[in-house]
Amino acid sequence: MPHPDHATIDLAVIGGSGLYNLPGLESASRHRVDTPYGAASGDVVIGDFADKRVAFLARHGESHALPPHRVNYRANLWALHSLGARRVIGVNAVGGIRGDLGPRVIVVPDQLIDYTHGRYTSYCDVDGAEVKHIDFSEPYTESLRLQLLAAARAADIAVIGGGCYGATQGPRLETRAEIARMKRDGCDLVGMTGMPEAALARELTLDYACLALVANFAAGCGDEAEISIEEIFAHLAAATSEVPRILAAMPK
Ligand code: HPA
Repeated sequence: MPHPDHATIDLAVIGGSGLYNLPGLESASRHRVDTPYGAASGDVVIGDFADKRVAFLARHGESHALPPHRVNYRANLWALHSLGARRVIGVNAVGGIRGDLGPRVIVVPDQLIDYTHGRYTSYCDVDGAEVKHIDFSEPYTESLRLQLLAAARAADIAVIGGGCYGATQGPRLETRAEIARMKRDGCDLVGMTGMPEAALARELTLDYACLALVANFAAGCGDEAEISIEEIFAHLAAATSEVPRILAAMPK
C-alpha cells in the first residue's frame, strides 16, 4: 500500500555514482523504510522539484559506502514502491564501448545483457513467494524512455536514444578481453548497477528507464592504456550536472 502522504509521487530517481542528492529538491522530508528485504541504501528523500513531487534515493548511499554488488536493490525498489512511486529513473555511470559513446555522452539505453552474479535478482527468492516469470523482452519502459529523450531535447541537452547496457559485477573495471567479448555480444555500454534493478522494477510493475552517463571509454576502447578513476569522476561530474535539467523537463 502506498504511504498516504506520498501517493502523489510523480517521479522517483535512483542516483548513481556522482549523484548523491538532487539539487533543486525543495521542502524535502527523509523517509527510512523498513522492507522485508532489509535496509535500503539510505533514506528516501521526498520533495518538490520543478513542478513535480520527486523521491530521490542514492543507490550507493549518500557517502558512497556501498559497492555495486552490495547494493540492496530489492530493498531500494521496494522502498520507492511502498512510498507510492510508479515511475523510476535509474541514473547510472557507465563506460562507453561503442565509438560514439565517449566520456560525458548521455544515453537512454533500450536493451541490456546481465553479466552479474550472486545478487538477489528477484522478489521470488523468498520461501513461499509466488513465482513470477516477467516478460523482459524490452527491459526498459518505452514510454518512460521516450519521455526522458523528449525532456533532454526540451532542455537542449544532447542525448543518444538506444543502445545495449552490459551489467558487470564490479567493483573492479573490466579487462580488455571482457570488453571485447561484450562488444561481440552487442553491448554498447558497460556499468555495474543496471541489474538487477531493471528486472526488480518490472516485477513490481514499476515503469523504469535508465539515464546512462558515460564516464570513460571502457577498457581497450579509448586511447589510454589505463583508466584513471580521477578522470572517471571528472567526466561524471560534468555529465551529472546536466541531470537535474533533464529531470525538471520530465512531464508530471
Ligand atoms: N566499466 C564498468 N562500469 C563503469 C565503467 C566501466 O568502464 N565506467 C563507469 N562505470
